[in-house]
Amino acid sequence: MKKIVFIVGSLREKSFNGSLAKLAETALQGKAEIEYIKADAVPFLNQDIEFPAPESVARVRNIIKEADALWIFSPEYNYNIPGGLKNLLDWLSRPLIANDPERMTVVVGKRVTICGVGGKNETASVRARLVDMLTFMRMELVGGAGKGFALPPSAFATGAWEPEQEVVAAIEEQAAELLQALA
Ligand SMILES: Cc1cc2nc3c(=O)[nH]c(=O)nc-3n(C[C@H](O)[C@H](O)[C@H](O)COP(=O)(O)O)c2cc1C
Repeated sequence: MKKIVFIVGSLREKSFNGSLAKLAETALQGKAEIEYIKADAVPFLNQDIEFPAPESVARVRNIIKEADALWIFSPEYNYNIPGGLKNLLDWLSRPLIANDPERMTVVVGKRVTICGVGGKNETASVRARLVDMLTFMRMELVGGAGKGFALPPSAFATGAWEPEQEVVAAIEEQAAELLQALA
């Protein structure tokens, strides 16, 4: 069975992006093995502590090395990549060996797909920035800028969100597209 690593860009316990990840989990049930990596699983990147990599970074890299693909679910913070997610991606962008001329990482050539839910912008800005960053990291994007969704006002007001049928269908479609790319 294919292995897919899920990364949620929000650290919030009741994250709406976490709800998207749950939908994707359901869509992939019985078709792929899912493992979550939390955006705060690694320390702040500091070039003074890069080599050897901290244990937490080595652990995350090993999980990703064994995976067939990554799926990122992220809100946008001020039209940008949330800090925790950006920090995790910065670690993944760094070479495994100091001064390696090939700049090999565990994510080079790795398939990745992205989606996000947020305000009216449907996370378009963060997804565009992720496309730039992941492309620079030599990852292989599946589904381009991915899928974005806008929360209804009630979600902001109450903190609760029941994903609409279109959202469920879109995530199912994205899951199918990812599996097809891995086949
Ligand atoms: C620091 C910060 C900046 C935000 N900036 C944006 C933004 O640029 N665009 C947007 O649609 N929502 C923005 N939001 C609102 C988030 O979309 C909203 O809080 C969302 O629920 C966060 O995702 P989560 O539920 O997965 O934690 C921002 C929220 C925070 C905390």
